[in-house]
Amino acid sequence: MSNVTVIGTQWGDEGKGKIVDWLASRADIVVRFQGGHNAGHTLVVGDQVYKLSLLPSGLVRGKIGVIGNGVVVDPKALMTEIDRVTAQGLVVTPETLWIAENAPLILPVHGALDRAREAARGEHKIGTTGRGIGPAYEDKVARRAIRICDLAEPETLNWKLDELLLHHNTLLAGLGAETFTKGQLKDFLTEITPRLLPFSCQVWDRLDEARRAGRRILFEGAQAVMLDVDHGTYPYVTSSNTVAAVAASGSGVSPSSVGFVLGIAKAYTTRVGEGPFPTELHDQTGRTLGERGHEFGTVTGRPRRCGWFDAVLIRRAVRVGGVSGIALTKLDVLDGLDEISICVGYELDGKKIETFPSAPGAQARVKPVYETMPGWKETTAGARSWAELPAQAIKYVRRIEELIEAPVTLLSTSPERDDTILMRDPFED
Ligand code: IMP
Repeated sequence: MSNVTVIGTQWGDEGKGKIVDWLASRADIVVRFQGGHNAGHTLVVGDQVYKLSLLPSGLVRGKIGVIGNGVVVDPKALMTEIDRVTAQGLVVTPETLWIAENAPLILPVHGALDRAREAARGEHKIGTTGRGIGPAYEDKVARRAIRICDLAEPETLNWKLDELLLHHNTLLAGLGAETFTKGQLKDFLTEITPRLLPFSCQVWDRLDEARRAGRRILFEGAQAVMLDVDHGTYPYVTSSNTVAAVAASGSGVSPSSVGFVLGIAKAYTTRVGEGPFPTELHDQTGRTLGERGHEFGTVTGRPRRCGWFDAVLIRRAVRVGGVSGIALTKLDVLDGLDEISICVGYELDGKKIETFPSAPGAQARVKPVYETMPGWKETTAGARSWAELPAQAIKYVRRIEELIEAPVTLLSTSPERDDTILMRDPFED
């Protein structure tokens, strides 16, 4: 019996929600370890539709949800989300939701700075979610973040707010944006403290106890490897590490607790926000994928850019992300296409290259080299066994496995939770 860590292998939105929900029903504890309310997924359970951004998915299944120290917490967004799911009948109490007391907070200054900087970047904008994620992580490493535990110490808060405001107001004023007063931030914190503090605890200690008691832990990654601040398409990335290794440091458990790493990959590729995307399709096929796959951002509602499966990028995500097996999602979106292409290499300035370059200019100039295979006419939607899949669809999956050098251990064939083909149970690995 193993723990399981789920990460995205592309640019996010791979359909993690459904897989995490399915795995959460078999776990005891579900832990978020990085990112913030820039993530978003929709869970459909019976006739209820839950939209989660910051809350771990396990809460929907009556499991303990944990927000680890690696997450940046917007307390207002969190409370709004708790109120929303409570109104839908979920029970969220300090017994069912544990939040790391050493997690940094996202304050109104962070969102304001995020948006002001994006506006100032012009054509080089990153396309952030505008929720203050980047500035909050910057404050964490710069050692000026307000952490949840600070809320219990008014004298600590007092001097930390001075330092924070000195930095942020200088930047905001320089960008021509509105500055903040200490009173504004104090009012904000005073309002949220009584609701937030009761959830805070030493998460690392409770998780260690849970591990000793043999409880199953599911680590729920947000975003994806190509948005990782080190390994992604920098600077068009998010501000956290998204690889599986961070499940340990972002929640305070040992690296050996990470367990089976399930990488989620869509059967094609999508991206929201700006940045390089070698296999992006600007033609009717791209639009067809977007329409059939309902490719609109959960958080911002932006249409997602769509393209062919990029096996080179996923092979890299498998290697740096420590992926043990892949959950391939949305295969049914490819049903009925005459031909399907897979990117198997790149060309850069007339030369063949086998890995994605790191410099932004080179990343933008890279041209994909495709292998094209016939599509299939039959539907794969709703298939629950290999026997129900058309031969050509099986060939496509097998070719992907060869190219990315990882097994497909789970195949999802529709948004429905049970329309899943399981090759190997990650918890039993
Ligand atoms: P930030 O995380 O808001 O700073 O945004 C940085 C980049 O990551 C932008 O391109 C966002 O669109 C992208 N991003 C952040 N979170 C997600 C996500 O959950 N899914 C997909 N893209 C995301």
